[in-house]
Amino acid sequence: MTVNPVHLPVMPVEALANLLGDDKAGLFVDATLGLGGHSELILQASSQTRVIGLDRDAEAIALATTRLAQFGERFAAVHCDYRQIKTILEQRKIESVTGILADLGVSSFQFDTPERGFSFRFDAESPLDMRMDRSQQTTAANLVNELSESELADVIYEFGEERAARRIARLIVAERGKAPIKTTTQLANLVVRAVHQKGHWRIHPATKTFQALRIAVNRELDDLDQFVADAIDVLKPGGRLAIITFHSLEDRIIKQAFRFQSGHCVCPPSQPVCQCGTAKRVTVLTRKAISPTAEEIAVNPRARSAKLRACQKL
Ligand SMILES: C[S@@+](CC[C@H](N)C(=O)[O-])C[C@H]1O[C@@H](n2cnc3c(N)ncnc32)[C@H](O)[C@@H]1O
Repeated sequence: MTVNPVHLPVMPVEALANLLGDDKAGLFVDATLGLGGHSELILQASSQTRVIGLDRDAEAIALATTRLAQFGERFAAVHCDYRQIKTILEQRKIESVTGILADLGVSSFQFDTPERGFSFRFDAESPLDMRMDRSQQTTAANLVNELSESELADVIYEFGEERAARRIARLIVAERGKAPIKTTTQLANLVVRAVHQKGHWRIHPATKTFQALRIAVNRELDDLDQFVADAIDVLKPGGRLAIITFHSLEDRIIKQAFRFQSGHCVCPPSQPVCQCGTAKRVTVLTRKAISPTAEEIAVNPRARSAKLRACQKL
C-alpha cells in the first residue's frame, strides 16, 4: 500500500486565531509538529514569525523539515517529547516564547501507515506496534502479550472506556496462551469475538481497545497537566497556549489544568479546606471548548471529536 503523507490541520482558522491573537510576529512552539500543517500556517501568518517544532516521531520530523524548508531559518525541528519543552528551550538559551500549540494524538500519517500498527482497517498483516517514537522499546504487542489479565483489563477500561474490558482481557490471555498475538488483525478479530458483536456496526468494536493500547504504549496522558504548567512557565506575559484534544480523557485533563492555572480550586468537593495551591497565572480564552464546524467535519471526518481550548498568560 502506498502512503500519502497528508494530514489536514484541524481547526486551522480557530487554532490560529486563538494562538496568535494580535501578536503575529514572534517565536512559537508547535509542540506536536506532525507533518507541519499548523506550523506552516503560523509561518505564513507573518514574515516575522518563527517556529520551533517538536515531535517524538523521527519520520514526522523528517517530512515536516522538508515541507517547511522554504521558510529557512524561521523554522527549526527538534526530535523530542513535548514534555521536555523547558529543557529544549533552555538548551537554545530561549527564555520565553510568544505562543505554544499542542495538537495532541496521532497524525493521519501515522494512522495511515500500516507498518506503524495504529489501525486495524488494513488487509495487510500490520504488526501490533503503535509507537509514536520508534526508538522506544515497548510496543502494543509487548503490552498485549505480557501484561497480566487484570492489568490489561484496567488499561482497556481506563484508557478506552470500554465496558467489555474484562471479557476482552480474558480472551486475550486465553488466546495468547496458544500463540502470541502479533498483528492488528488478530487483535481486532479477537475483540469482535469477545464482545459478541456481529454484522454491521457503527463504530468497529475494536476501536476503544486500540485507543486504550495506543494511549498506554505512548503514555499519552502522563504528565499532561505538568506540560500545561511548564508551557505557561515559558510563555511571555500575554503569550498564548492553545491545545487541541481528541478524546474526553485528554480534554478533561486540559480543562482541569486550565482551571487550576486560572486560579480556580480543583480540590475534590469532599475537601473542606483548599490544598491544591492554585494561583491565577492565565486567563482562559475559551469558556467552552471550541469544536470544528460541520463544514470542516465533512471535509476532514477525523476532526469530528476535536476540541480546542486556549489560555493567555497574565
Ligand atoms: C495530530 S498530530 C499533529 C499534526 C500537525 N498539527 C499537523 O498539522 O500536521 C500529533 C503529532 O504529535 C506527536 N506527538 C504526540 N505525543 C507527543 C509527545 N508527547 N511529544 C512530542 N510529540 C508528540 C505525534 O507523533 C504526531 O506527529
